Amino acid sequence: MRISKLVLGISMALGLSMAAHAAEVEVLHWWTSGGEAKSVAELKKMLEAKGHQWKDFAVAGGGGESAMTVLKSRVVSGNPPAAAQIKGPSIQEWGDEEVLANLDGIAKAEGWDALLPGVVADVMKYQGKYVAVPVNVHRVNWMWANPEVFKKAGATVPTTWDEFFVAADKIKAAGMTAVAHGGQPWQDATMFESVVLGVAGAEFYNKAFVALDAQTLNSPTMIEALKIFHKIKAYTDPGSPGRDWNLATAMVINGEAGMQFMGDWAKGEFTAAGKVPGKDYICVAAPGTADDFTFNIDSFVMFDLDDKALQVGQNDLASTILSPAFQEIFNLNKGSIPARLNLPMDKFDDCAKLSAEDFVSTAKANTLVPSMAHGMSTFSSTQGAIYDTVTEFYNSDSITAEAAADKLVKAVAAAQ
Ligand code: GAL
Repeated sequence: MRISKLVLGISMALGLSMAAHAAEVEVLHWWTSGGEAKSVAELKKMLEAKGHQWKDFAVAGGGGESAMTVLKSRVVSGNPPAAAQIKGPSIQEWGDEEVLANLDGIAKAEGWDALLPGVVADVMKYQGKYVAVPVNVHRVNWMWANPEVFKKAGATVPTTWDEFFVAADKIKAAGMTAVAHGGQPWQDATMFESVVLGVAGAEFYNKAFVALDAQTLNSPTMIEALKIFHKIKAYTDPGSPGRDWNLATAMVINGEAGMQFMGDWAKGEFTAAGKVPGKDYICVAAPGTADDFTFNIDSFVMFDLDDKALQVGQNDLASTILSPAFQEIFNLNKGSIPARLNLPMDKFDDCAKLSAEDFVSTAKANTLVPSMAHGMSTFSSTQGAIYDTVTEFYNSDSITAEAAADKLVKAVAAAQ
């Protein structure tokens, strides 16, 4: 009797202390496709293993535009979630709003500076302090190809834009869709930045999308890139406008289409469908970009909240995200590579291994560039201005490339 009372007392005390630290951690993200959902489920599982509850705040819409709109209204109304997927220079904009939690305590305790590549750590800090924690590094300048489609069409996987049009013509002539595309502004911009990089190289790309140099934005080279970009439209299918990116990936997976220009979250869809790279599908750099790497780093910020239990939950979430176990399992599913340095890559496929090698070599060669389309190179207002111009041009058959380049300069200037 006495013993059982004692046991009861101990278990109640344990229960109480668990409850005191357990938090319902609300996490905003836009990972709703097959591969993305599998990836985020791993984070949920690991947070729950630390005794917390995961409150899912998923806002569908690739690229996160809708998610950001919903997040702004929640923060403005004084009710931010505990954590949100925010990345790139936008982290600085949120820092300016003075709504982010300072993660330096946990960052120092766990030695984040030594765990992260400099290019990643820099993005995570606001005024020298960690306010965000990275989950991965995505490469954007990929092309995904279905080898069966190429075989049927007698086409070769292209490495230059000239070769691309030769292959696309053959696939089209064989009665298949050459390019699987989802006509949404962020997807148009994703394809466009790969064309610019392939046509003009990393230095030009940086001048255009990081320095926002007017002469570069409206230059003969940019006009050439715009023409190539627009020409691709003729190789997409009539169902393209508005299509979600993962449905475009599905067209490559099931052999309806030959290629897709998309970051390596597309690989998450191939993986979720049980497909093997090199056999069922091919990953190659977008034409002309094999020596370049457009990076897109996903990260989470924590909002500054008073609730002590939630603060514990936030620290546990941040710590989980940088743990080797999470970085491995998440990125195996997501298609990206770990953000953390020196993790074994033996479980990763050849596309990820290539990405990891190229991330290091392009950083040395100065051909590692931030993705404009994924909010890594500019503030969101500038990105929006570029999106608008690029999408309007892509969808129009009357705007000339010269006029679009001119408009690009004006739209970017107006957004500053
Ligand atoms: C990107 C994000 C990726 C992927 C993609 C499509 O902005 O960084 O992780 O989810 O959108 O939703």
